[in-house]
Amino acid sequence: MLYSSDIQLIKPKKRWQAVNHSVLQQKNIQLWLCHLDTGLPEVSGNKCLKLKYHLLQVVQSGFAGVVTFGGAYSNHLCAVAASCHAMGLKSVAYVRTDELDITNPTLAFCQQQGMRLIALDRGRYRQRSEPAFITGITASHPDLLLIPEGGSSAAGSLGVSELDLASTPDGNADLILCATASGGTLAGIVNGHDCNALGIAVVRDASLPSRVQQLINKTCAEKQWRVDGSFAGKGYGHFDSNLLAFCRSMAAQKVYVEPIYTGKALAGAIKLVEQDQIPSGSRLSFFHTGGLQGLQGLRHRNLITAADFALLSGSMAD
Ligand SMILES: Cc1ncc(COP(=O)(O)O)c(C=O)c1O
Repeated sequence: MLYSSDIQLIKPKKRWQAVNHSVLQQKNIQLWLCHLDTGLPEVSGNKCLKLKYHLLQVVQSGFAGVVTFGGAYSNHLCAVAASCHAMGLKSVAYVRTDELDITNPTLAFCQQQGMRLIALDRGRYRQRSEPAFITGITASHPDLLLIPEGGSSAAGSLGVSELDLASTPDGNADLILCATASGGTLAGIVNGHDCNALGIAVVRDASLPSRVQQLINKTCAEKQWRVDGSFAGKGYGHFDSNLLAFCRSMAAQKVYVEPIYTGKALAGAIKLVEQDQIPSGSRLSFFHTGGLQGLQGLRHRNLITAADFALLSGSMAD
């Protein structure tokens, strides 16, 4: 059984949405967005897939819950907090911050869901993948399953690999695209599909292709995939007024994206079409990986206006 009763709460429903853009029209390209929704709004997009096998392991191995890592505005932390709360599990998060600011809406949400938050300064946070550090964390929380940052692990990619992103309502996609940060989502897409896959990096990280490679099954070695690093701009979390304007233009057609992940990657995809780097006549499938909760953090830091928050989050949509 793919979804046992334990994890029914995070079983997603798939929804396709066509994207219109003058560049796509000019180049005769179809672009379909694939959404995944669960009953828990914070556990949409790639989150429900990346958490599936981790949470199954928690339940089947008798762990009391989960310990994980993330930034102070992390979508992953919200997803872990919400799913653990709904499943009656404990959750603990090591947060990349000097001091926990509970006026931050992401951390406030996590705390409301019962997640225990522990601040880790940037120096110590950088050690999060080192074996000695991981051993220390698991020793401190022997009753909890450790999930790596972003849920990117073999178990996370396995969940993603089960999603059929290739069968768009208009027929098979020629290329599947997604926003890429820690790499687990792209690796899962490659493992689960035969068509080409392209990760648009939203972070500046030269090691990203090798991190993706590590999560790709040996049997998939011949598959065609790549990471495009040309749209990360100044790096993770940075965006300019053009990108914000793009997100607004998408919201006007009820395509809701934010400028950290999905908006940055979707704008990059359209730029690649404009630059003729994607063959004219192609059919594209873009995985909407979720993350709209991040808009609250952007608003909290005054990086977007209240009007943009309402527009981009769809709260003004009917
Ligand atoms: C909304 C959103 N999109 C894309 C990604 C990138 O996924 P990955 O870290 O698997 O590359 C993340 C991070 O998990 C995310 O929160």
